[in-house]
Amino acid sequence: MGVVCLSSKVYPFTTFLALVGVCFGGSDGPRGVAVGFVFDPKASCDQPCEHGGLCIRNNTCFCSKGYDGETCKYANCYPKCKNGGSCLRPGKCRCPSGFGGRYCHKVMCDGGCWNGGECTAVNGVAKCMCPSSWTGSKCQDAICPQGCKNGGICVVPGICSCPEGWLGGACHHAVCTQPCLNGGKCIFPNKCRCRPPFSGPQCEKKQSH
Ligand SMILES: *[C@@H]1O[C@H](CO)[C@@H](O)[C@H](O)[C@H]1NC(C)=O
Repeated sequence: MGVVCLSSKVYPFTTFLALVGVCFGGSDGPRGVAVGFVFDPKASCDQPCEHGGLCIRNNTCFCSKGYDGETCKYANCYPKCKNGGSCLRPGKCRCPSGFGGRYCHKVMCDGGCWNGGECTAVNGVAKCMCPSSWTGSKCQDAICPQGCKNGGICVVPGICSCPEGWLGGACHHAVCTQPCLNGGKCIFPNKCRCRPPFSGPQCEKKQSH
């Protein structure tokens, strides 16, 4: 039989300490006896020993390696499950969402972090920490500090993609395919604002009073 753990609720405390004194459990277990013990064949345990534990004395279970508790109910994980993970069975952690790896020690950002973002736990929640010019849950959105006007979209940090008819770093310059004449200003795609007394699509007409 392998290394097993003993726990008792009937032994006086001092006896239990003596048992702990001779206890060792493989390389990683905190408790467990590998020495002979008195086995009472008539022993009965009111609550059955779980996970292959043996009832060796009245209400005393001798637990299989990796389990402890009065009825050997609790699995042990070494190293312990991190980040709120629970030990399902020896060496197997169930991790809360946002964490993974054998011991729930790895922060997992669903879908990953883009553009150099780093997956980090913030108050126990996995989050992408984005470089300064990117934002969004996955750092998928570029930041254009100048803003993108007139329906432009920020595609790369600082660079707007402008709809047709608009140009400029913030898509703020309208484009008039025919130039605005006589000091007129292109204020909207193919729309000139004319200086008086000019008018017409290109401000080419001089109004006569
Ligand atoms: C164990 O319990 C049974 C009944 O519950 C009792 O008859 C017996 O004497 C107990 N054995 C010991 C060693 O205390």
